[in-house]
Amino acid sequence: MKAADEIIRMTDITKVYGVGEAETTVLKDIHLLVKKGDFLGITGRSGSGKSTLMHIIGLLDSPTSGSYILNGTDVSKLKEDEQAFQRNKEIGFVFQQFNLLPKLSALENVMLPALYAGISKNERAEKANMLLTMLGLENHIFKRPNQMSGGQQQRVAIARALINDPELILADEPTGNLDTKSGADVMKTLKRLNDEGKTIILITHEHDIAVQAKKLIQLEDGMLIHKGKWLTKT
Ligand SMILES: Nc1ncnc2c1ncn2[C@@H]1O[C@H](COP(=O)(O)OP(=O)(O)OP(=O)(O)O)[C@@H](O)[C@H]1O
Ligand SMILES: [Mg+2]
Repeated sequence: MKAADEIIRMTDITKVYGVGEAETTVLKDIHLLVKKGDFLGITGRSGSGKSTLMHIIGLLDSPTSGSYILNGTDVSKLKEDEQAFQRNKEIGFVFQQFNLLPKLSALENVMLPALYAGISKNERAEKANMLLTMLGLENHIFKRPNQMSGGQQQRVAIARALINDPELILADEPTGNLDTKSGADVMKTLKRLNDEGKTIILITHEHDIAVQAKKLIQLEDGMLIHKGKWLTKT
C-alpha cells in the first residue's frame, strides 16, 4: 500500500539494546507518519532516543521490531546492500559534528557520496561546485575542513547531503556546534530547501531551533508525543 504523498510510515517500531539484565528499550512502539514536503522537528531530552530514531529512519540502524516503509518500500525486507543503495539515493545526512573527511577539500567531501551514483568525475565536480556556490562557499572549495569555520564546515556538510538530490534530509543537531549566527544561517538553508520541496527532519534539543520546524514531535523515554503547531507560539 503506497500513499504517494507519504515518505515515512513507521508502525510499532521498537529498539532494544543489550540482552538479559543489560537490556534497555530505547524506542517504544513508535508510530510516525511523515509526508513529502514536511519539515518535522524532533525534540526531547538527552538520552530520550532521538539519534537512535534518526539512525533507523536513515537506514543506519535497524529496529528490533516493527515496520518501516520508506518512500513506498518496506525497508525491513531489503538486504544490507539494497538498504545502502536506497540510503545513498534518497537520504542526505547532516550531523552535529559535520563528519567531514579531514584530508579532503570541501569539493572532494561534497563529491564523495556521488561516487557510487554512476556519474563521471567531471559531472560530480561540477555539481559539487554548484552546490558549494549555492551555499556561499565559492571561495572555499579547495580548503580542507580545518581551514574553515564551523558554520562553513556545516554548509559543506549540507552541500554533501544534497549531492545525490535526495528527497529527505535528516539533520541531527545541525546547529549544536555553531554560534547563533551560523546556526541561523543553517536554519535558513534548511527552510529554503524545504520551500524547494525537500522533506526535512530536524533533531534538536534547543527550543528556539525546534519551533522553526512546521510540525513538532517530542520523544520522552523512547515514546513519541505529538505536539501541536501551537508550540511555535510559546
Ligand atoms: N549502541 C548502543 N548500545 C546501548 N545503548 C545505546 C546505544 N546507543 C544508544 N544507547 C542508549 O540509548 C538511549 C538513547 O540514545 P540516543 O543517542 O538515541 O539519545 P538522544 O536523544 O539522541 O540523546 P542526545 O540529545 O544526548 O544526543 C541512551 O540511553 C543511550 O545510552
Ligand atoms: Mg543524539
